[in-house]
Amino acid sequence: MPIETRPLTPHIGAVMTGVDARRPQTPAEVAAVEAGMDRHAVLVLPGQDLTDEQQLDFSRNFGPLEEGANSTVRANELRLAPTFADVSNLDKSGAKLARDNERRMAALGNRLWHSDASFRAVPARYSILSGRIVTTDSGNTEFADMRAAYDALDDATKAEVEDLVCEHSLIYSRQQLGFTEFLPDERVSMKPVLQRLVRTHPVTGRKSLYLSAHIGAIVGWPRPEAMAFARDLMEHATRPEFVYVHRWTRHDLVIWDNRTTMHRVRRFDDLNIVRDMRRTTTRSDGPTVAQQAA
Ligand code: OGA
Ligand code: MN
Repeated sequence: MPIETRPLTPHIGAVMTGVDARRPQTPAEVAAVEAGMDRHAVLVLPGQDLTDEQQLDFSRNFGPLEEGANSTVRANELRLAPTFADVSNLDKSGAKLARDNERRMAALGNRLWHSDASFRAVPARYSILSGRIVTTDSGNTEFADMRAAYDALDDATKAEVEDLVCEHSLIYSRQQLGFTEFLPDERVSMKPVLQRLVRTHPVTGRKSLYLSAHIGAIVGWPRPEAMAFARDLMEHATRPEFVYVHRWTRHDLVIWDNRTTMHRVRRFDDLNIVRDMRRTTTRSDGPTVAQQAA
């Protein structure tokens, strides 16, 4: 079957057909997916009824897998292999997470605009999210095109952001959700990392804004000024013209490039409705800045 892409918006997102993610991919197929990603930043592959093993095999075509996305969950309570980010609202026994469940509360961070693993020194390249059981009217996933957002900045702002470096940490995003207490070992494991605010895509050469809910400071700036500026940029970057809203169909496989996009999930009735989403994530080439003690 020929591989075809159909753009979903003027800037971001396309449906890709003709790829069967259940089978081993040829180098040409991998190259076609990567070319589609470079162009559209988000690809929707419908009808991919995958096993976990098939999802892992498909994902490995796009770089080394990131592990430990659910590292705050005790190993014996994991529902999925540690190579998965379990984005469902289910516990190991298949029961829905209670309202005050730790994992549920931390996962509410996915409702804030973010880029996956921007709090890691080597952040994520692709996220690959498989909709095993989906919600239809709610629980949409929204994606913002950070290339288009960069392009639309005025020249003065482009010059101002060009060399800025931000601190990213899970502590900062959790603070936005009202978490105030962090254990000493959490402060170590969630120690801020530095990331450039402007990234250049290694293949296309396009610049993009690297924003995320995990940002809590800009190097050399007073913190309140940094927070206010990051908020302004967020607001700019998530204007509807830069956003693709994905409404899920069962067995959609959605791939996004964390280097050039942000995303968030919208609210749904997670105490009563099952949503089983499983994410694999590949690592990018290296730190966005030479890492130093933040
Ligand atoms: C993710 C995420 C969005 C969703 O998997 O990284 O933010 O729709 N999830 O569940
Ligand atoms: Mn995410």
